[in-house]
Amino acid sequence: MTTAAPTRLQALKLKMETREARIGIVGMGYVGLPLTLLFSNEGFRVTGFDIEPAKVATLNSGGSYIVRIPPDSIQQAQKKGFHATADYSEVAQMDAVIICVPTPLNDYHEPDLRYVRETVESIAPYVNEGQLIVLESTTYPGTTEELVVPRLEKGNPSGLKVARVADEPGIHVAFSPEREDPGNDTVARHDIPKVVGGCGPAALELASAMYGSIFRKVVPVSSTSVAEMTKLLENIYRCVNIALVNELKQLCMKMDIDIHEVIDAAKTKPFGFQPFYPGPGLGGHCIPIDPFYLSWKAKQFDFHTRFIELAGEVNTAMPYFVLEQIAAGLNEHSKSIKGSNILVLGLAYKRDVDDLRESPSLTILELLRHRGASVAYNDPYFPTVGHGRHYALNMINTPLDNLGSYDAVVIVTDHSTYNYKEIVEQSKLVIDTRNATKGITSPKILRC
Ligand SMILES: NC(=O)c1ccc[n+]([C@@H]2O[C@H](COP(=O)([O-])OP(=O)(O)OC[C@H]3O[C@@H](n4cnc5c(N)ncnc54)[C@H](O)[C@@H]3O)[C@@H](O)[C@H]2O)c1
Repeated sequence: MTTAAPTRLQALKLKMETREARIGIVGMGYVGLPLTLLFSNEGFRVTGFDIEPAKVATLNSGGSYIVRIPPDSIQQAQKKGFHATADYSEVAQMDAVIICVPTPLNDYHEPDLRYVRETVESIAPYVNEGQLIVLESTTYPGTTEELVVPRLEKGNPSGLKVARVADEPGIHVAFSPEREDPGNDTVARHDIPKVVGGCGPAALELASAMYGSIFRKVVPVSSTSVAEMTKLLENIYRCVNIALVNELKQLCMKMDIDIHEVIDAAKTKPFGFQPFYPGPGLGGHCIPIDPFYLSWKAKQFDFHTRFIELAGEVNTAMPYFVLEQIAAGLNEHSKSIKGSNILVLGLAYKRDVDDLRESPSLTILELLRHRGASVAYNDPYFPTVGHGRHYALNMINTPLDNLGSYDAVVIVTDHSTYNYKEIVEQSKLVIDTRNATKGITSPKILRC
């Protein structure tokens, strides 16, 4: 009895399932590098692509530039065949290419897809028949079909088209959102279900086979647009709920009610309530940015996303609210912001991460300086801070001594390395934007 030869798709799937497939990951950043290690740990041979020569050199010398990724894990991956490159011609040797490049906003708060566009145009000349190309960068619904597919089809010299039906020759294209929560070690990355949408059933099958080798659960959806929208719904949900709790915090302060005590009580409800916590404003590359990808796209459909705009308004105002609270705290000591010495604790956008992007600390430092304060910062993850698109601080980290010499110490990021009891004891005035001093009773603390 003769057995039928495996179909083209079956052969590709088998390569994924047996981990013989070669995986290329484009963008060796906060998303791409951990994903690289995940694939490598599972036995895949991975090539990392990045346009920053310093990152490529660091990785190839067995080093790391992300605090929570130890150099040892890069060296382990190297032993399993990992190397980094800026040479896109190596794309031709890959069975799958996963794109994890930035998707920021431009100065007009509109999607800036230049990194995705440049990546797709760079890989297009090297894509080959049967290859799987997956976009993981967060973006508005329609990007994969409207931006990725036409550029791949136009840019490859063999005239390959995207395969739409099973066993049609061509390139397979899919979208799968990255759902990790940096700094949160309570859920292992491979335990986060992987949502996947394909440009047609073959791409979906192939991408599901690839991610199924790594993630415990794959959640297939009917299109790339559904997968793109899923990620936005998740982040908009967070953004809106954080805005809600930031607004209620301000009301609670006026009513002399502790919002944190309220949240702790509310979260005992076993259904229908998920706790969100107030803070000094949003940060990171996701929550302050992603919702505006959708509000921009919505305009094409003559639709106004009011929740997104309102949440953005409330969250963006939070650093200004903190500034008011610092002024109120200093006022109690007969001081003004102008001429005061103020130390900001924590630059990172959230606890225990080395990521500065969109951090409210940067805005608060800028605002304080603008109002005439003499400012300093401490953050174990940033020996210096220079300038970015919205700030020009050019400062160096101040050691955590002599706290009594500051008129106010402002906790903006509640890193777990800080001893908050000692900080309160040694400071004249502590403005706590994160409830980091919970359980410490002192008239020196102003919680906001
Ligand atoms: N950081 C997060 O927590 C997180 C979580 C979920 C989703 N995301 C999404 O993942 C995507 C990537 O985010 P990130 O935080 O990893 O960004 P990042 O800035 O940390 O990393 C992106 C990397 O891509 C590289 N790059 C840029 N253009 C390139 C090109 N043309 N070719 C090759 N490399 C290129 C950059 O040099 C950089 O190393 C974004 O869309 C983001 O919204 C991020």
